Amino acid sequence: MKRLENKVAVITGSATGIGQATALVFAEQGATVVCADVELEKAQVTVEKIKEAGGKAEAVHVDVSQVDSVKQLADHLQSTYGTVDVLFNNAGIDQQGGKVHEYPIELFDQIIAVDLRGTFLTSKFVIPLMLKNGGSIINTSSMSGRAADLNRSGYNAAKGGIANFTRAMAIDYARDGIRVNSLSPGTIETPLIDTLVGGKEEEQGKQFRDANAWITPLGRLGKPREMATVALFLASDDSSYVTGEDITADGGIMA
Ligand code: NAI
Repeated sequence: MKRLENKVAVITGSATGIGQATALVFAEQGATVVCADVELEKAQVTVEKIKEAGGKAEAVHVDVSQVDSVKQLADHLQSTYGTVDVLFNNAGIDQQGGKVHEYPIELFDQIIAVDLRGTFLTSKFVIPLMLKNGGSIINTSSMSGRAADLNRSGYNAAKGGIANFTRAMAIDYARDGIRVNSLSPGTIETPLIDTLVGGKEEEQGKQFRDANAWITPLGRLGKPREMATVALFLASDDSSYVTGEDITADGGIMA
């Protein structure tokens, strides 16, 4: 028996990286996956990959920072499926902004809007579709939600906020049969890292990857699929007595 058979799973930010890998894993496990992303054409590529492997998926445009856009996604889910079983709030952005007194206000607002407020908005409008049957919500925090990074206070604030927002949601919805947990990735090889520090071929990008591999007890960066399998645990009944928890998957950095 597949672990997400007959389930509808919505994954924000599923055009690339961790979200794409998770969409593939959820579909392998029988879910119908709604790949919701601000980059619709790229999300369509995820859907094609799923369909080639015999799975079920569709791509839907959403900008998680925009109320009307998230409402449109929820309306589409309501009219197409009626209920949602799994919501993975994975969409996120990260960028260095300097020390707090130098940090651009617009960048701070943007990171909070996508990462933290986006998690709130998507939850707010999708939860009504989960109230009838219950389900599982996975938010995406980070080891950057537990410890600080140089020049990234906006991201640290957003991800720390998501970790505690997750606990608040968990107790709000426990009696509705909705479990809410967060996943905190370590350093994972995705396009986000390219944006943050540069690609593998660039000197700064190479130095960042080498340094991160060195400080990671497992000795390497994580792979998107290694986050997807943790998300699968949280999405499925394998974690039926787990709620309000943050699962760190970071190769041992925070140990
Ligand atoms: P990524 O950059 O590969 O993927 C992010 C996805 O979010 C993209 O598909 C992008 O189009 C989408 N997105 C961005 N803004 C959006 C918006 N306003 N509305 C809807 N979709 C939007 O990044 P990655 O690495 O896969 O990150 C996924 C999540 O994991 C993020 O929340 C990130 O903060 C978190 N994370 C990643 C780590 C890493 O080392 N890669 C470490 C810790 C956390």
